[in-house]
Amino acid sequence: MALITQASIQAVLDACDMLEIVAPYTTLKKSGTSHMGRCPFHGEKTPSFSVDPVRKLYYCFGCGEGGNAFRFIQEKEGLQFVDAVRSLADKYGVSLDYESSSPEEEKRRVGKERIYSLLDQAAGYYSRVLQESSSAAAARDYLSRRGFKEEVISDFRLGFSPEKGKALLKAATAKGYAIEELVRAGLLSDRRGGGKMDRFRGRLMFPFTDHRGRVLGFGARVLDESKPKYMNSPETELYHKSRLVFGLGNARRAITRENRVFVVEGYTDVLALNQAGMPAAVASMGTALTEQQMREISRFTKNVFLAFDADWAGRSAMLRALEPARRLGLNVRVIEMPTGNDPADLVFATGGLEQFGELAASAPGLLKYQVQTALSLSDLDSTEGKVQAFKKLGPILSQAPNSIERDEQIRIVAGRLRLSPENMAYLMQSAPSTENGDAGGSTKRRVLSQGEITERSFLSLCLAREEEAGRYLQLMTEAHFTTDLNRSAFNWVKNRLASVKETGSVIKETALPAGGELSDLISELFIRAQTEKYSPAALPELFMRLCESEIYRRIEKLKSRLGSGEEVDLKELYRLEDRRRGILRKIQSGTFETV
Ligand code: UTP
Ligand code: MN
Repeated sequence: MALITQASIQAVLDACDMLEIVAPYTTLKKSGTSHMGRCPFHGEKTPSFSVDPVRKLYYCFGCGEGGNAFRFIQEKEGLQFVDAVRSLADKYGVSLDYESSSPEEEKRRVGKERIYSLLDQAAGYYSRVLQESSSAAAARDYLSRRGFKEEVISDFRLGFSPEKGKALLKAATAKGYAIEELVRAGLLSDRRGGGKMDRFRGRLMFPFTDHRGRVLGFGARVLDESKPKYMNSPETELYHKSRLVFGLGNARRAITRENRVFVVEGYTDVLALNQAGMPAAVASMGTALTEQQMREISRFTKNVFLAFDADWAGRSAMLRALEPARRLGLNVRVIEMPTGNDPADLVFATGGLEQFGELAASAPGLLKYQVQTALSLSDLDSTEGKVQAFKKLGPILSQAPNSIERDEQIRIVAGRLRLSPENMAYLMQSAPSTENGDAGGSTKRRVLSQGEITERSFLSLCLAREEEAGRYLQLMTEAHFTTDLNRSAFNWVKNRLASVKETGSVIKETALPAGGELSDLISELFIRAQTEKYSPAALPELFMRLCESEIYRRIEKLKSRLGSGEEVDLKELYRLEDRRRGILRKIQSGTFETV
C-alpha cells in the first residue's frame, strides 16, 4: 500500500483543532494556556486531563496517557495510525499525497479511489432520489409507516433506486465514469439480449460502508413482499460479504465510548436500535457471524452482545459463534429476543427499549447459553437424554478455557445429569473434540441387539456397585461379550475395578481412553451407572444372563460342527446343555446365587 507523505501528515496536523477533536469525549475548561477536563481514558472525579490547543497535544497527569491528535483518535476509535490520519484528513478536508510509487502502482491506487468515489456518488444519487423524486413516494411512505425518522434515514444515507433500467448508468456516465468502472463497483448487471443495465431498480437502498464510512456496496430491499427481499452487491474488489459488518462506520464512536457492541441480523434492526438511542449496533448481514467479521469488530471492543432473531437460524448462528469468539478472546453474551420478535420489533414496541436493556443486563455468556440450550433440548428424565446431553456438552465444557464461568457450568450440568462434579470432570477428560464428536454421534448410531444391551447394562451396573462387581468380573472373560467394543469396555471396567481393590480409590487411577467409540461408551456407562435404578438382585441376574448367553453360543458352535459332520465331543455338549438349563431355571425362579 502506498505511503502517505510526511508533508501530508503534517498538513493534517496543521489543520486539526485539538479542542474540537477531544470535545465529544470530555468537557474542557480553560486554565492558563491549556484546557483541563476529566480524563477520557480513565475514570476520575477531579480533572487531570489537559489539552494544549497550540501545540496540539494532550496529556493526563492521572494515568499518563498523552500524545497528538492522531494518537488520540487511534486510542479513542481503535484505529491504526494510517486510518487515524485518513479519518482526520477527511474531517478537515485535507487531500493526502502518497510517496511516489511505481507508475503502475500509482495508477492502480487512483483507479481504486475512483471506484470509491463512484460508490459514494451512487449513494448520494440514490439518497437524492429518495428525498426528492416523485417516483420514490412509495418508498418514503414505506419508511415512515415502519417508523423510521428523517435523522436515521440520513445518518445511514438510505436511498431509492429508480425503476428505470438505466437511471444510475446514465447519471454516472454523464459524470465521466466508464461502464467498466460501474461494473467494477458492482452497480450494473447484464441485460437480457446483451448490454448492461442498473443492478438495483425500484428498491430501498442501504449503503454498506467500512469502519471509516466509505461506501463499499449496497443492500437493496423490495418495498413489498416479493422475493428476494434483499438483493446485495456482488463480491467486488471493495465489498466482501464475509468481511463486511453493516453499520460499523456509524457505530464506531459509540462502540468505543460504551466499550460494547450489539450485533443484530438485519439492516433494519441496526436502524431501529439507532433511532431508539442505542447507537452501538451493527448487523452481521444475515445470520452467520463470520470470524472475519468478529475480527473487524474486535478492533473496537471485546464485549459483544449477540441479539439475533428468536428463531432456529438465529439461535444456531449464535451457538456457532462460540469457537471463533473464543479464539479471538471476545467476551460474547447472548440477548434472547422474545419469540417472534427481532430487535427492531422489540425496541419499537412500547416498553421495548427498557426490555431490551434488561435482557442485555442479564444476558448469559456464550458458554452458559450453549449449556442452557443443550439442556433444554434434551429430555433429562430419560437416561438416553442424559447421555445425549453429556455427549453434546462434554466436549464444549472440556474445551472451554478454565474460568469461574466454566466451573459454574460444569456444576450445573453435573447436577442436571445427576453426576458428581468430580465424575463429570473425570468424564470430560475423554470427551471427543466437537468437530468429529458431532458427526460420530450421528453416524455411529445403530440399533443394538438385546444381547449387547444386556452386556452394557451389566458393565454399567459394575460401575455402580464397584465393591461387589469385582467378584463377578473375575469369573468372566472376553467370551462373555459379543462385540469388540463391548469387549474393550469389559477390559477397561475390569482393570478399573482391579485398581480399586489395590488402591482403594478409582477416580484418578484409571486413565480414560482418549476419544473414540470406547470413551463414548464409557461415558455412557458412567452416566447410566449414576442415573438408573437397579434392584439389589440385578447384578447377579445380569451376570447369569451373560453366562447363559456365553454357554448358548458355545453350544451353537458345537452343533454347527455336528451338522457339518466334524467330530464333536458329545459329552461336552451334554454338559453345556445341562449347565445352561440349570442357569435358566435359576433365572426363571429368581434365585440368584451371589458369588
Ligand atoms: P431479515 O429477513 O430479518 O430482514 O434478514 P430485516 O433486515 O430484518 O428486514 P425487515 O425488517 O424484514 O425489513 C436479516 C438480514 O439477512 C440478510 C440481510 O442482511 C438482512 O438484513 N438478508 C435477508 C439478505 O441478505 N437477503 C435476503 O433476501 C434476506
Ligand atoms: Mn429481521
